[in-house]
Amino acid sequence: MVDPVAQPADLRLVRESYDRVADNYVAMGVGDLAPAPWLRAALAAFAEDVRGLGPVLDVGCGPGTVTAHLAGLGVDVSGVDLSPRMVAHARRLHPGLRFAVASATELDLAEASLGGVLGWWSLFNLPRDVLPDVLTSLARALVPDGRLLLGMHVGDGDVVRTEVYGMPVTWTTHLWQPRQLAGLLSRAGLQPVAELRLPPTPASTSAPALPAQVVLAARRPS
Ligand SMILES: C[S@@+](CC[C@H](N)C(=O)[O-])C[C@H]1O[C@@H](n2cnc3c(N)ncnc32)[C@H](O)[C@@H]1O
Repeated sequence: MVDPVAQPADLRLVRESYDRVADNYVAMGVGDLAPAPWLRAALAAFAEDVRGLGPVLDVGCGPGTVTAHLAGLGVDVSGVDLSPRMVAHARRLHPGLRFAVASATELDLAEASLGGVLGWWSLFNLPRDVLPDVLTSLARALVPDGRLLLGMHVGDGDVVRTEVYGMPVTWTTHLWQPRQLAGLLSRAGLQPVAELRLPPTPASTSAPALPAQVVLAARRPS
């Protein structure tokens, strides 16, 4: 029997916030992979690593951009997201793929049922004391040699956001250092596979400034 993951106190506010920003998120092309060759490289390696291992779940899939990208690479992938509005966009934009509404904290995944799990800039709203249990539940759902791919904003502390993508929001962005995340993955029972660090990007005419980012790949020991 596995202990259930605690539900974040602000889950409803975070869901409502993403529902509010979802239309702008899609209209602004946030999460577009076209200008991000290093992220595409990480996703290509992940797709290769999970080949033949079983289905992949994109947790916090938003409008399904990365879900569809992985499907295009031949991955048997579905998406799940906290925000019904994000999932409505995902279903409209990618009608051939499967998407569901749920929080990463309430997935109740069967042990060893997935070849891979993706948390692509979707777990940074989880409170610091909740993320470790979510990672453990995701790790447990992996088959032996299954892969978890995590993308996160890098930094220290918690940033309270009140406006994002031109809309009012109520959420906290929890920043993490790569070594802290590597420690959490290790405590979840996973072994490191790769770590990709991206430096902060200054604002341009088409995009706001971004803090440093990290992508971590980890595997469940066989
Ligand atoms: C910055 S967006 C990233 C979306 C997508 N992964 C992408 O790269 O375009 C963050 C997403 O995480 C989702 N999210 C936030 N908290 C979540 C939770 N507890 N469970 C599932 N999804 C969550 C939001 O609804 C939102 O769609």
